[in-house]
Amino acid sequence: MSKKVAVFRKEHFNAAHRLFNPGWDDETNEKIFGKCSLPNFHGHNYELEVKVVGEPDPQTGYVMDMKVLSDLIKNEIHSRFDHKNLNLDTEEFKGVNPTAENIAIVIYELLRNKIESKFDLQIRLYETPRNYVEYPI
Ligand code: NI
Repeated sequence: MSKKVAVFRKEHFNAAHRLFNPGWDDETNEKIFGKCSLPNFHGHNYELEVKVVGEPDPQTGYVMDMKVLSDLIKNEIHSRFDHKNLNLDTEEFKGVNPTAENIAIVIYELLRNKIESKFDLQIRLYETPRNYVEYPI
């Protein structure tokens, strides 16, 4: 029987964004996205939970060293997105609407590239304390 364990690391970052579809006029954007589409941007305190699933290493007893995971999140996610305007300041959201859904997908892909494939990975991203997304499901 496999002895897989899920380990989690929580981090947070602050970022600004504006949700809009460039193919729509301002009125339609405001109808669909509400205040999130106001042209001068607004900020969120994003809470990020990274879940890694694997079997504990027989030598260390760790699935993954949490310091390594924490450093990975700092280097790959925090350094890219913290205190940034996601629409204007980041390559990842040029032409991609920075919804929580799309941010979670981007974060997953950035981390997936850096975490051994033997581990399962899942991202949970809170845009507000009440609204959050998970990827992949
Ligand atoms: Ni927003």
